Amino acid sequence: MPRRPARTAQKPRRQRPTSRGNPADWPLYEAEVLRGLEEVARTELGTIHGLDVVAVSEEAVRFRYAGEPERLGRLRSVVAVYAVRAWEVPRPRGLLGHQQLGELTAWLRGVAAQGGHRSLRVSAAGRDTEVMERLTAEISGSLGLAHQPEDGELRLRVRPAQDGSGWEVLARLTPKPLSARDWRVCNREGGLNASIAYGALALAGLRAADRIFNPMCGSGTLLVERALMGPYEAMVGVDTDAQAVACAQANLKAAGRDVEVAQVDALNTGLPPRSFDLILADLPWGDDIGTHGGNAELYPAFLREMHRLCSRSGRLVVITHEIRLFERVLAASPWQGRELAQVYSGGHHPKIYLLSR
Ligand SMILES: C[S@@+](CC[C@H](N)C(=O)[O-])C[C@H]1O[C@@H](n2cnc3c(N)ncnc32)[C@H](O)[C@@H]1O
Repeated sequence: MPRRPARTAQKPRRQRPTSRGNPADWPLYEAEVLRGLEEVARTELGTIHGLDVVAVSEEAVRFRYAGEPERLGRLRSVVAVYAVRAWEVPRPRGLLGHQQLGELTAWLRGVAAQGGHRSLRVSAAGRDTEVMERLTAEISGSLGLAHQPEDGELRLRVRPAQDGSGWEVLARLTPKPLSARDWRVCNREGGLNASIAYGALALAGLRAADRIFNPMCGSGTLLVERALMGPYEAMVGVDTDAQAVACAQANLKAAGRDVEVAQVDALNTGLPPRSFDLILADLPWGDDIGTHGGNAELYPAFLREMHRLCSRSGRLVVITHEIRLFERVLAASPWQGRELAQVYSGGHHPKIYLLSR
């Protein structure tokens, strides 16, 4: 692990108000959200004291928040959180004005000191224009952060203000996206995005009495996220691949959670009928993991066996990108199913289903 350089910069003033005051004066933030998880994000944000959601749009939730920004770094449904500030300037060039640049760099110094960012990148329409280059150089020099255009940690977005009154700068609070979890010490091809796992679990609902089964657990994303969300009666994960089992165990250990994971075929567990109240399955999607031909056999067999293992009032959550096949197989199965969400993540757009008997 590279060591963080010692910080010599003077400690910035905190910008948040000490008393909560009028919500319209609270600092403004924007959460970047995977398309399809906006309502999940709004619900999670709604649980935070002193936080006022002001707008939900595609892939973004805007809010004002009076509390400690560190709390926002523990959000689980969102990709990233940005602090937002606007300046009444007609063009980005106005941000280079003496006063504006002083305010901008002082504000960003505070964000970087809080988040521990070590490098900088700027995303803007026309980021290569002379003005954006100068702005980037000024901020980089003033904050002592190297400009790394592709993966700089202090990610800035410069864009027209939403109310049309000038230009706004968004600064990512954390060096890494929040969907890149600290517990993920082992990754595997086909690993589920942790924000999608959180979204599926939140939409399916948490019940402390649930006996939970995660067949095909892979790197254990659903197991870890569920274990971190609250109590349950019992939980076990299985995968046929020994490396996947070891990977899930490593991630669970890093998360400080004790969950049994075994190298077992999910279709031949030998367990008695109705062993589980909640079954969580991120099925092979037929591209990175599994094949379309293999899924045509796996999906019906899976639904049959999970129907046997699920208690009468139990539920089965399925996440898959192989949508047409899954919906055809579901229609011919004894399950009642409904779609909870479709999430857009990179080139994938998996659906999350909730099935009941
Ligand atoms: C899409 S991946 C799961 C990814 C996982 N959600 C994660 O975050 O890493 C599907 C997994 O199913 C496993 N698998 C396929 N058929 C199985 C079966 N019959 N029983 C148990 N595991 C199986 C594969 O080994 C693979 O790890």
